[in-house]
Amino acid sequence: MQMHSELDQKAIERAAEHLARGGIVAFPTETVYGLGADTFNPTAVEAVYRMKGRPRDNPSIAHVSGPEMAATLVQSWPAEAQQLAETFWPGPLALVLPRHPRVPAVACGGRDTVAVRSPDHPCARALLAACSCPISAPSANRSGHVSATTAEHVRDDFGDIRDLLILDGGPCAIGVESTVLALGSEPRILRPGQVSTEMLTSCIGKVIDTPLAVQGDSPGTSSRHYAPVRPLHLVRSSELVACLQDMESCAVLCCSATRIPGSCRAFPMPGDPDAYARCLYETLRRADACENMTRIVVECPPDSPGWGTIIDRLQRASGSPGVPA
Ligand code: TXA
Ligand code: MG
Repeated sequence: MQMHSELDQKAIERAAEHLARGGIVAFPTETVYGLGADTFNPTAVEAVYRMKGRPRDNPSIAHVSGPEMAATLVQSWPAEAQQLAETFWPGPLALVLPRHPRVPAVACGGRDTVAVRSPDHPCARALLAACSCPISAPSANRSGHVSATTAEHVRDDFGDIRDLLILDGGPCAIGVESTVLALGSEPRILRPGQVSTEMLTSCIGKVIDTPLAVQGDSPGTSSRHYAPVRPLHLVRSSELVACLQDMESCAVLCCSATRIPGSCRAFPMPGDPDAYARCLYETLRRADACENMTRIVVECPPDSPGWGTIIDRLQRASGSPGVPA
């Protein structure tokens, strides 16, 4: 979305007024679309949980204009947080810190911590400037389903909701959700994202990269998440041909030149992780919508640098953290 025309600014102002009245606004960020409510309006935040069908104990990220606003939501704003914000904000990094009592518990899934993130999208930034309140926003998809990376995806999931205002800012540039980092005595990655372990380590020193299987501190990262409706099988590249012999009528997301049987439908994926991330959710949604296809098979991308976030999301979409079957 170009933020220069008067019309666009009017749409932003209308959306800010809607939030101020306790309404819900779907808005684009650089990662995925968010389903936002005023953080300080518990009724509006609860309405977002209801709309998504999201478990109440799964905390939402509070989107902020920058470190100053973030500091008002936490008990203290450590030097480490400031350093990370200066390096990676606006951008795809959410920081989890002890919550200030002024932040309603319902916005944080009842936890005593809050995740804060300053998004890098002109539309999200203009909205935050216009409403001057933090916006609590989970991803704009039905709970557990594939995240939305276009306004069309939001309409597909919530088109029946009359009061939802959707800001269309075009397709998201990154396409997968932010890195979530818990800042305690030992900073720990709760969800991998484009801001990698190496980037974080070079900024603040040691960062714990918790393996997926023992991940319990971030409810939204539990297994079977980010998932299409049809069963998804994540398959090693070397086993793809044999696997497809046993299965008929699959939608296949493939990244090698493997010949896909005629009964299946091929979705060739990019060989570059950034490009793959950008189209992953869009492709999963299209594969899921394929008529007569009973399942989705995904050829696992190489386990090499840059692919970690994608493999994480594919493992969760398949419902089986760990090595692909
Ligand atoms: O890129 C993103 O982060 C997108 C855009 C809209 O900003 N948002 C997003 O929100 O992915 P959601 O709610 O779908 O995922 C937020 C993740 C969940 O895994 C949640 O458990 C975790 O962040 N989280 C949020 N607050 C937390 C907290 N206080 N402690 C631990 N984990 C938290
Ligand atoms: Mg989500």
